[in-house]
Amino acid sequence: MLRALAPAGLPMTISDLRAGLVAAGEGERAVAALRREICQSFGVRHTFLVSSGRAALSILLQALHALQPQRNVVALPAYTSYSVPSAAVNAGLRVALYDLDPVTLSPVPESLARAVDHRTVAVVVCHLFGYPADLDLVRQVAAARGAYVVDDAAQAMGGEFKGKPLGCCGDAGLFSLSRGKNLNALDGGIIITHRDDLASRLEQLQPVGDGARTHRLFLKALLLSMLIRPSLYWLPRSLPFLRIGASVYDPRFPRDTFTPFQAGIARRMLARLPEVTAARREVARDLRGRLSNLHDVSPVGSGGYGEPVYLRFPVMVNSGLPLVESPLLGVVRSYPTPLGAIEQLRPHLVDVSARYPGAEQLAGRLLTLPTHQFVTPLDRKRIVESIGSR
Ligand SMILES: Cc1ncc(COP(=O)(O)O)c(C=O)c1O
Repeated sequence: MLRALAPAGLPMTISDLRAGLVAAGEGERAVAALRREICQSFGVRHTFLVSSGRAALSILLQALHALQPQRNVVALPAYTSYSVPSAAVNAGLRVALYDLDPVTLSPVPESLARAVDHRTVAVVVCHLFGYPADLDLVRQVAAARGAYVVDDAAQAMGGEFKGKPLGCCGDAGLFSLSRGKNLNALDGGIIITHRDDLASRLEQLQPVGDGARTHRLFLKALLLSMLIRPSLYWLPRSLPFLRIGASVYDPRFPRDTFTPFQAGIARRMLARLPEVTAARREVARDLRGRLSNLHDVSPVGSGGYGEPVYLRFPVMVNSGLPLVESPLLGVVRSYPTPLGAIEQLRPHLVDVSARYPGAEQLAGRLLTLPTHQFVTPLDRKRIVESIGSR
């Protein structure tokens, strides 16, 4: 039987879909209930829900810019999802980049200090693959220059930095609810903040819609719940026009509402988050043990900033040989280039000549291994063998 593992994913059950349909019947009450639950779970005063993580980041950056209109630059990691600069440009801001340490995925202090100045409205910190970055450093550099901190936990919902939930460690934070994330509501973005001044700006920027996407989303959920299974995942993988896993820079994207149908699914997934995180950590612990005999492969370290939630398990391959993916085992590269190499982004960069060696190393030498619940012990053995046999 053909078997293929998705690089990232989360099972969605028929009961989840049923909960979505019930919530669709409840309408905005279901969305309001989810907002309350998020405020409680993360201990924040304000939560906003929108159609995607990109939309959440863009709206958030616009709201922060409205609080400090004389500043128009946002500082971003030089290696992250292409959605991040897409959102910054969508918000009408210019972009300064800072480098990451390839051993910990955390900002390089000198590079961060160079990227942030009196023009910077906000520093965005991303916890890549669920690895907490050094928020103390980011807060200190941002505070010294009067910039806000955006705690982008799109990939790290459920993680913590020094006992505080990721997403809550800045002036505002965000999560993505797209299908490869820790909480899968098909798509969606959450903004959270303690700040009342920011919340009233965010209120004004909320998208309005008629929620008429429910039928399309239901169909998507039905397909996803089946096709994410290893026995069927080969099918979407073999259809190139779906562009699964492709990194796309595109600052033109819709800002839409979050539907009651998605809220129904998200409420169930939020309740399951601790269990999902524990299972991912167990897979990661096993992979780490199995990889310990491979001398030119090193798992990325957490940098001591908190236990990762392992959206994926990233490893650096140091052999100097070209990276070999094993797509049927979900072993793939991540973002293909540092952000500075995206041609269409260059007109929006504050400094086009700067180099980011950590980001270049990550783009060239990083492989990610899957950690989701469909990865069996036999898969883990094969994954490690595939990496060891290059
Ligand atoms: C760090 C980070 N921020 C923001 C986003 C945007 O989220 P979405 O895909 O829901 O638009 C992503 C998406 O992968 C991400 O990885």
